[in-house]
Amino acid sequence: MSARPILRLGTVKNVSGFQQHLQSLGLTIPCDHELLTGAESPLRQPLVRGDIKIGNRIVVHPMEGWDGSLDGNPSDHTVRRWQRFGRSGAKLIWGGEAVAVSHEARANPNQLVAAAHTEQGLARLRATLIEEHRLTAGSDDGLLIGLQLTDSGRYSRPNAHGRPEPRILYHHPFLDRRLGLPANYPVLTDAEIEAIIENFHKAALLAWRLGFDFVDIKHCHGYLGHEFLSAHTRAGRYGGSFENRTRFLREVVEGIGSAAPQLKIAVRLSAIDSVPFHPDPAKSFNGKLGPGIPEPYEHDVPYRWGFGVNALDPTESNLNEPVRFLSLLEQLGIRLVNITAGSPYYNPHLQRPALYPPSDGYLPPEDPLFSVARQMEATRRLKQQFPHLIFVGTGYSYLQDFLPHVAQAALREGWVDMVGLGRMVLTYPELLWDASDGRNIERKRICRTFSDCTTAPRKGLPSGCYPLDSFYKDSELMTQLTIAKKH
Ligand SMILES: Cc1cc2nc3c(=O)[nH]c(=O)nc-3n(C[C@H](O)[C@H](O)[C@H](O)COP(=O)(O)O)c2cc1C
Ligand code: SF4
Repeated sequence: MSARPILRLGTVKNVSGFQQHLQSLGLTIPCDHELLTGAESPLRQPLVRGDIKIGNRIVVHPMEGWDGSLDGNPSDHTVRRWQRFGRSGAKLIWGGEAVAVSHEARANPNQLVAAAHTEQGLARLRATLIEEHRLTAGSDDGLLIGLQLTDSGRYSRPNAHGRPEPRILYHHPFLDRRLGLPANYPVLTDAEIEAIIENFHKAALLAWRLGFDFVDIKHCHGYLGHEFLSAHTRAGRYGGSFENRTRFLREVVEGIGSAAPQLKIAVRLSAIDSVPFHPDPAKSFNGKLGPGIPEPYEHDVPYRWGFGVNALDPTESNLNEPVRFLSLLEQLGIRLVNITAGSPYYNPHLQRPALYPPSDGYLPPEDPLFSVARQMEATRRLKQQFPHLIFVGTGYSYLQDFLPHVAQAALREGWVDMVGLGRMVLTYPELLWDASDGRNIERKRICRTFSDCTTAPRKGLPSGCYPLDSFYKDSELMTQLTIAKKH
């Protein structure tokens, strides 16, 4: 842990105190003193770019729930979550959650699947969300709803929680070791990749038939789309050169263009990354996790297994290739981009800045505001270079009480086009709606980054806000989580 104790943001009395804290850390994060309301609020400005019309600047990030049925249909838990996504008032729903393009592509045995037998279930999710959205926002004008399409690749676990079934593109010196993969573990063949691409085409067509406005071809968090981008060491058509590493995206987009030409395409991208982290063994005692430290990488430099990282110092990011990737998106006619970072599996402090670690994580290696700032700064720099793309920003939940102030300032100062909420939606979906409506913020509903929504799935339980949402807090699930955490 950093020498200085991390200040809990819940104890910071006001915006000035927060700004002073940022200053003491030497961080530049925009933050407005006063919140504007109604049509004056940057959060409520519509956004129009070509044929894309979005009614306000609030976004719900995709969040998987591990609570579908074994055949990939939504359960009542899933429906409740989508209802709450709708209640947020957000006019851009970025995918709801990762939906697998086939059974084998699932990250867990309860993940949703896009298939003929789940059509009605997925349609119900969309309809429920729209209905609830109308109650908050008055109408569904300017509401854009996408489906996030995924193949979980290295993190596939389709059949049993305790049985990983990784589908890898290349051998990664650190991640293979974590998964216990032997040197001769098979990599996906080009023919298998072609079949996966077809699955994406079919899933996109299904999304189009169900009335979704766009599909996100997920390229983040260590899943398959993201792994393609770092497949420097893979031989053949899908590895090596930048052109080969982006062939998957191009072929997916090409097929969707033929099957459903009106369907919009979006990409969620881990634009920055670092080497995997683990708890410092010298500081982990009595079952308590130590602070995160990077895997020793000195013998693996130049680092050839990352995307958006500096090959000579892979704890640092480098935007050269992400910039090339965004140019490619522009060429392909893709305008919706959601910028995220790293992976919840190997560097969660970067991906979901939090004060409390998930069960398979580590204590924060530094004040989590550094990772908030990293995600915001990378997005700002990319947006400056691509003014015509629509950028959604990520990593805001850690800002807690000051999230609305930062979101407003980031929009006003043009750091980002839209602000996305992840964990905060699980506990307080209406936060930004309330803030831009001039209502009192309900402090007891603010996400304090306890990470139980990440720990629960790691223990094979549905995701949700166990500490703050009474649906979980007062249920048998809470008891199960408490028991699971002890083992
Ligand atoms: C329980 C949980 C499930 C998530 N599932 C997904 C997912 O399905 N797809 C995705 O792109 N990101 C997923 N994420 C990441 C979030 O979308 C978001 O990037 C992250 O939580 C950081 O944003 P925040 O600070 O607002 O929480 C998930 C996060 C959590 C906490
Ligand atoms: S469990 Fe609740 S409070 Fe904790 S990080 Fe998740 S949403 Fe936030």
